[in-house]
Amino acid sequence: MIFRDLIKSSVVALGVTNSVLEVASSTSSSGDSRATVPNDLTLGVKQVPNILNDTAVDANQEAKGYTLVNVTSTPRGLTGILELKEATNIYGYDFDHLNLTVTYQSDKRLNVHIEPTNLTDVYILPEDLVVKPTIEGDVNSFNFEDSDLVFQYHSDDFSFEVVRASTGEVLFSTDGNPLVFSNQFIQFNTTLPKGYAISGLGESIHGSLSLPGTVKTLFANDVGDPIDGNIYGVHPVYYDQRYNSNTTHGVYWRTSAIQEVIFEEQSLTWRALSGVIDLYFFSGPDPKDVIQQYVSEIGLPAFQPYWALGYHQCRWGYREIEDLEDVVTNFKNFNIPLETIWSDIDYMDSYKDFTNDPHRYPTDKYQDFLDKLHKNNQHYVPIFDAAIYVPNPNNETDNDYTPFHAGNESDIFLKNPDGSLYIGAVWPGYTAFPDFLANNTQDWWNEMFKEWHDRIPFDGIWSDMNEVSSFCVGSCGTGRYFENPADPPFLVGGEVTQYPSGFNVSNSTEWKSISSSIAATATTSKPSPSSSSASIDSMNTLLPGKGNINYPPYAINHAQGDHDLATHAVSPNATHADGTVEYDIHNLYGFLQEKAIHAALLEIFPNKRPFIIARSTFSGAGHYMGHWGGDNNADYDMMYFSIPQAFSMGLSGIPFFGVDVCGFNGNSDAELCSRWMQLGSFFPFYRNHNVLGAISQEPYVWSSVADATRTSMAIRYLLLPYYYTLLHESHVTGLPILRSLSWQFPYEKKYNGIDNQLFVGDALIVTPVLEPGVNKTKGVFPGAGVSEVYYDWYTHEKQDFRNGKNETLAAPLGHIPLHVRGGHILPLQEPGYTVAESRENPFALLVALDNEGNASGKLYLDDGESLEIEESLYVDFVAHSKSLTASSFGEYNVSQPLANITILGVEKKPKQVEFEDSKVKFSYENSTIFVTGLEKYTKEGAFAKQFTLTW
Ligand code: NOJ
Repeated sequence: MIFRDLIKSSVVALGVTNSVLEVASSTSSSGDSRATVPNDLTLGVKQVPNILNDTAVDANQEAKGYTLVNVTSTPRGLTGILELKEATNIYGYDFDHLNLTVTYQSDKRLNVHIEPTNLTDVYILPEDLVVKPTIEGDVNSFNFEDSDLVFQYHSDDFSFEVVRASTGEVLFSTDGNPLVFSNQFIQFNTTLPKGYAISGLGESIHGSLSLPGTVKTLFANDVGDPIDGNIYGVHPVYYDQRYNSNTTHGVYWRTSAIQEVIFEEQSLTWRALSGVIDLYFFSGPDPKDVIQQYVSEIGLPAFQPYWALGYHQCRWGYREIEDLEDVVTNFKNFNIPLETIWSDIDYMDSYKDFTNDPHRYPTDKYQDFLDKLHKNNQHYVPIFDAAIYVPNPNNETDNDYTPFHAGNESDIFLKNPDGSLYIGAVWPGYTAFPDFLANNTQDWWNEMFKEWHDRIPFDGIWSDMNEVSSFCVGSCGTGRYFENPADPPFLVGGEVTQYPSGFNVSNSTEWKSISSSIAATATTSKPSPSSSSASIDSMNTLLPGKGNINYPPYAINHAQGDHDLATHAVSPNATHADGTVEYDIHNLYGFLQEKAIHAALLEIFPNKRPFIIARSTFSGAGHYMGHWGGDNNADYDMMYFSIPQAFSMGLSGIPFFGVDVCGFNGNSDAELCSRWMQLGSFFPFYRNHNVLGAISQEPYVWSSVADATRTSMAIRYLLLPYYYTLLHESHVTGLPILRSLSWQFPYEKKYNGIDNQLFVGDALIVTPVLEPGVNKTKGVFPGAGVSEVYYDWYTHEKQDFRNGKNETLAAPLGHIPLHVRGGHILPLQEPGYTVAESRENPFALLVALDNEGNASGKLYLDDGESLEIEESLYVDFVAHSKSLTASSFGEYNVSQPLANITILGVEKKPKQVEFEDSKVKFSYENSTIFVTGLEKYTKEGAFAKQFTLTW
């Protein structure tokens, strides 16, 4: 039914499905008779991004910098005063005195902190909002010789350097460029070696390396995944891999400010529009060390429940509860595993949070559905939008909306600067925005979530629109709530994208075209009264104090058409309970909301791991939630970019990541969806999701996709114990689950920037097809034929790859090349339809020997859901000299037996194979031993006892 309905229309305005809303005044931009937020309220003031403005002043050229005086040694570093040499007030008012504090926080972490001596009007990011790395060990003593990093400075024309002690290499140097520190513009610059290899600074759709010409804008943005533009999250950290010394270090600026980072041939310039400088240098020396050093400081990743690893199906347009029922049934009928069914905003009553539509999602049917789902060990996750509907007080039925009234009475919403309610607009119409700095917000929030869950027993939350998005500029709903706008002020739905849109767009091509675009944008830069509803003063005015926060003098290259900070977002002047303005913490909105959801879920499910997938993220958010990549397109370029996006999220402490498989915007097709369902099956979070109005893309819609999906899912579910072990590893160490070739092989530059292949853990390498109309693909296999050996997953054959060679791999539709890296042992479990069923099945082991006949691996297990883990099981596997030993530790009891063991890379057929002292059945083919029938020796549980297998 969904299928039929949806095929009828390829372009649908949001809200056509909502039959219960009253029709209000006719101001629709889409030409129907329903009210929308008037278009003129959505227009910002066109800004000329500084980087696109030829006439813009270059602060590196004009500013005069500071002189360092009063330098004093401290037990852990030094302090000093920076005196402004001469005010230039380029993009704000220069501070004349700054305090410099340098702290050697540990042998591997150095902090450089610079803040104005007078902190009036300066935003200081509180430690209870974002964790602050602290000194390790005795605060009053430090052996500076133990430090990997050394801080050096020049007093006149103040500059500083961070040097690696062991090599003398300069890792960071502001030499030659003045420090700029004003109320609305902070800038420093570091020189970089030629041909640098820098990654990080998410979130954007971009290759994993930032090449010269890259501009990273760090401003959380509700926008449909533009290539190179700023999107939902902000992660002010970069990783710098140096191949001359084979070391990697990281640099984290702990700031929630609006930022921009400009990469040039041999330098990086970092700008922020408020706050202070709070820089942390992590010494590595390997990429995996730096990742762990950073992630363990910001907050180790949340441990997801085991069921989160199952397959998730979603779409915008499951209009009725029957649609969800149909989808669940179809998956079963087509024998494609389905773990979790999701709801987009369709379930809500007029898109209001905490409600369900009484006609399309009546509570009794909804509950019956969830009851059946839960009985089948399946799960349900509804969307939750950040904004809360502001009802029309003149309409009794509409006004009966407790979440708003209770929140308003508890005074928990964002305000305008004059103290009145800030009213923006999102799906339900005019909306208010919870203020997570207000005292009563969490109590109200807990109550609302509890009441909702009592009615609709969901299993997790999908947190959307929390950048925080608002469809109009400024507090547009003030005085207009009577309009009841039922539709957003733009069309939504399945406009079909043309392949291969944007496939060749990259920062370097954009950079080259910048000059030609300057003229065009510069002439339209003045606000025109008729084109804007924003009540602002003239643009970019320099103001003392906090400055002009709606239109800061430095305009970032914000990826909204007009570059106005308030376009598709709550305005920078929206004010929190403690007086903090959104301008200073816009980038934190989603993160603070996710912490609040996390706390609310813990009230509902005490001691269960909260399952939250959220859109806007900040440093440390991974401690609370997983993330999906947002509104991508159903095209090959987006499938490709999902890989570096996953890498970037791994660097940001958010390993539990996936994108909208088969593509969100536009219509997918059988070939694309087949390739993507297979690639997606290797991402930790595996969910197919689709925009309203686009054709259906559940994997059973096309038989070829169904086949490809079953093949891939069989692999994923077989690998569940391996994935769960990786989830646990990332939770305790901060290591990503999906790993780039350059982190696995950090000493060979040729592997840096490879974004078309991915390692899952250390043992598996996936080489997907990322283009249409081909039956082969290419990939490199580091160390092959030298130090490494790779086996084909499907045939078990040892591959004759050559180190560094771009190998061509057969990849007909339905086949995704997958290789096992020698030296690793993977725990497996026979797949079931759900994760719970899979966990009831026998285990198996895959042993891939390296060139010396050695391999090792591990398994971690527990009940899969407790937050405080009382019983766990760790198993170490070691293979060498023709024997494999499994030793387990811990109390968690696994009752399922071990069924079989496959050993790859055994050159000669063994005469016999023994499990402990018993001869066991085996076959031998393709240099592979396949041992079966182990159940009878492991009846008490696969890992109840240590065992050894010899051959
Ligand atoms: C935006 C989200 O990114 C998308 O996934 C969702 O379908 C729409 N909002 C509608 O809720």
